[in-house]
Amino acid sequence: MKIDKLIRGARMKPQFRTLLCCSLLGFTGLVSAQSSDSISIIFDTDFGMPPTDDALALMLALQSPELEVLGVTTVAGNKSLEQATSDALRMLEIAERTDIPVYAGADLPLVHRVSDFAINSYGSWYSDEAPPEPYGGFARKKIESESAAAYIEREVMASPGEITIVALGPLTNVALAIQNSPNFAANVKQLVIMGGAVASLPDGAGNITPNAEYNFWVDPEAARITLRSGIPIELSPLNVSRKSALTKDWYDKMIAVDTPLTNLLQVSLGPRFEENPDQVWLMYDQIAVASLIDPTLVTTEKMVVDVNDNHDISYGVSVAGSNVWPGAEGAQQMNVQYDLDWPRFIELFIERVQRPVGE
Ligand code: RIB
Ligand code: CA
Repeated sequence: MKIDKLIRGARMKPQFRTLLCCSLLGFTGLVSAQSSDSISIIFDTDFGMPPTDDALALMLALQSPELEVLGVTTVAGNKSLEQATSDALRMLEIAERTDIPVYAGADLPLVHRVSDFAINSYGSWYSDEAPPEPYGGFARKKIESESAAAYIEREVMASPGEITIVALGPLTNVALAIQNSPNFAANVKQLVIMGGAVASLPDGAGNITPNAEYNFWVDPEAARITLRSGIPIELSPLNVSRKSALTKDWYDKMIAVDTPLTNLLQVSLGPRFEENPDQVWLMYDQIAVASLIDPTLVTTEKMVVDVNDNHDISYGVSVAGSNVWPGAEGAQQMNVQYDLDWPRFIELFIERVQRPVGE
């Protein structure tokens, strides 16, 4: 077993892990695939097996030595909490990373209740159906007993200022951690969020209601709490997602190398491209992860961003401006991604998913 994998399996603070890694590597003269200054992340996700974007984002994170995934936390969103958790456990087995713990989180938003609109629209966050068997069968790997919010709080407080949270679903788990502990927010290094749509920038329409993006709309109260928490935020809204365009040509390049991950992509994406070779897929959560690996892939603007949690026609809509405006008092400034170097991004993604797994 490689030393960096052995150390990743051990439960200890990230800075101690890095120190131990460096001294062991120095001792043996080996070169680690995990860089010693890798970014420690908690991967918070409304997971689903591919072609769901969260799965492709997790592949990218696991296969990138710039990032160290400390734990995966699941939340209801794209799928029910049960399916998100079942699929995340299975994905870690396929990626040969069963050393990473999985914590189940919120099975419903803080306030938002299921409606006919939710049932008839995209996603199944409200569902209580048993999860379907994922590719290759249900995972043998088990979840941890601690809740996602408790784990997030514990991991952050154990390494103040060291942990980045990558939040790729409704922000329920993150908001609960913020609400549970008055010291939590001040000790998070950074939050990278896929969520929102900024109407004042190009490509800023919603994707679930005319102006609301899905993750923020599922739990607007949690989004508002999180965006006003004071945690430094990098926001990856729909504006930047809409600069991506996964075509069959890129897909063919992706699956040209045979690995457990590219095989899974072939099984899940292949039939869709066979049915319609001209279709173009947007990438969402993958961009948020990639921007942490290489910030030069995205163009950002500093903006004040807030979320409407009034139960009206703008429920869950994010609004952004260069300064605070009347009604947005207390909203905070953050980096808002609005453009993407698509060729460099997709080349990075392909190169990473083609690497051997589990290293
Ligand atoms: O609106 C896109 C977002 O909603 C992505 O995170 C996708 O996975 C879904 O959660
Ligand atoms: Ca997601």
